Amino acid sequence: MNILLLGSGGREHTFAWKITQSKLCTQLFTAPGNPGTAQFGININVEVTDFEGIKNLVLEKNVEMVVVGPEVPLVEGIYDFFLEDDQLKNIPVIGPSKNGAQLEGSKAFSKAFMIRHNIPTAAYKEFTSENLEEGLSYIEKQNIPIVLKADGLAAGKGVLICQSIEEAKEEFREMLSGKFGDASSKVVIEEFMDGIEFSVFVLTDGKDYKILPSAKDYKRIGEGDSGLNTGGMGAVSPPPFVTDDMMKMVEEKIIQPTIAGFQKDKIVYIGFVYIGLMVLKNGEIKVVEYNCRMGDPETEAVLPRLGNDIVELFSKTVNGELSTVNIQEDQRAAVTIILSSGGYPGDFEKGKVINGIDEINDSIVFHAGTKTENGKLITNGGRVLAVTSLHENWKEAIRISNKNAEKISFEGKYFRRDIGFDL
Ligand SMILES: Nc1ncnc2c1ncn2[C@@H]1O[C@H](COP(=O)(O)OP(=O)(O)O)[C@@H](O)[C@H]1O
Ligand SMILES: [Mg+2]
Repeated sequence: MNILLLGSGGREHTFAWKITQSKLCTQLFTAPGNPGTAQFGININVEVTDFEGIKNLVLEKNVEMVVVGPEVPLVEGIYDFFLEDDQLKNIPVIGPSKNGAQLEGSKAFSKAFMIRHNIPTAAYKEFTSENLEEGLSYIEKQNIPIVLKADGLAAGKGVLICQSIEEAKEEFREMLSGKFGDASSKVVIEEFMDGIEFSVFVLTDGKDYKILPSAKDYKRIGEGDSGLNTGGMGAVSPPPFVTDDMMKMVEEKIIQPTIAGFQKDKIVYIGFVYIGLMVLKNGEIKVVEYNCRMGDPETEAVLPRLGNDIVELFSKTVNGELSTVNIQEDQRAAVTIILSSGGYPGDFEKGKVINGIDEINDSIVFHAGTKTENGKLITNGGRVLAVTSLHENWKEAIRISNKNAEKISFEGKYFRRDIGFDL
């Protein structure tokens, strides 16, 4: 079958790599794609939110399945767009309905969903400018640190952890007056959870589910988890501290009630659920957030450990046969290290020539922000490449990824040399 993949980052290069390993894939198209996805199929210059453009592409190329990488088209309703179109309604989209995507698209929606279905998460309240005063007095009664979250999508920048009540009140006012645009016209105020984070990934048809390999990502730019937040600077799968007992607890207390919640709320959900978790000091595990798609860079560490044919997995998900699947998990650990442009996540320059990828044979190098110009590979984003290594010993996987991150060169290259430092 012809498959269309939407997106253009390291996650999508990884999907392209994995999808084209399937005998069921005849031709892969990626829109808009990057030089990494171009190694596995044809890139088509259509933006992920250009639904009419995507429709034309699907009809013209006889696409029979659409796999959605990033959250924005899901939150904007690409699933429903297909379902409501006579020519597209029979073409499966791997990704939730607009309603389901609210789990990521609205923090208030996802908190209410968790409370409604008894899924452990931090206590919270939501406010708009209509009840600003109430919000301020609510803040005064809370402990510090205190967490403020813009309700809507804010590209990973909408969460503030405030160390004083004064700071929280100030930020709260600013958020409601448009600090993150529309995204912060509603603000969720949340209790701070102290612990260690990891993520689980679930593939579901809204009724049955399968758990994919788990991962831990590294969000801060600086070593020792310091400095500004980024899209993610590295990932380890599986996180070595996650035990079978913990996974059992997550499945019973979090995954099962989540899927049951889809049923009870009549949420149409065919696709990935990313569940961000916090392991508290007392051993309790709570949900930090849901995302309605796979993570980036977690995908670069998770998919290389997935033994199954991913297109077959998608087909079975769409056909309601997910319960017949056995997930095959590579026992080796995977470690991904991101190479970023100097200055990222602040201002950075693009267009630097990249060398050294071809000499690497013991890691997989996925493209994130790259571009080809005059036959040369150049940098084209903050996060440029993802280097993934697999090894029985996770420390060895870290060493190999570090070694190869060192070998690749471009002006201003930066990477964290301490991925896994806390494990
Ligand atoms: N209640 C909380 N307690 C402690 N840390 C939190 C809490 N909520 C969020 N965080 C931290 O902020 C990060 C971003 O929050 P998250 O809800 O995942 O939003 P997003 O990924 O949309 O920016 C989390 O990965 C976590 O490190
Ligand atoms: Mg998050």
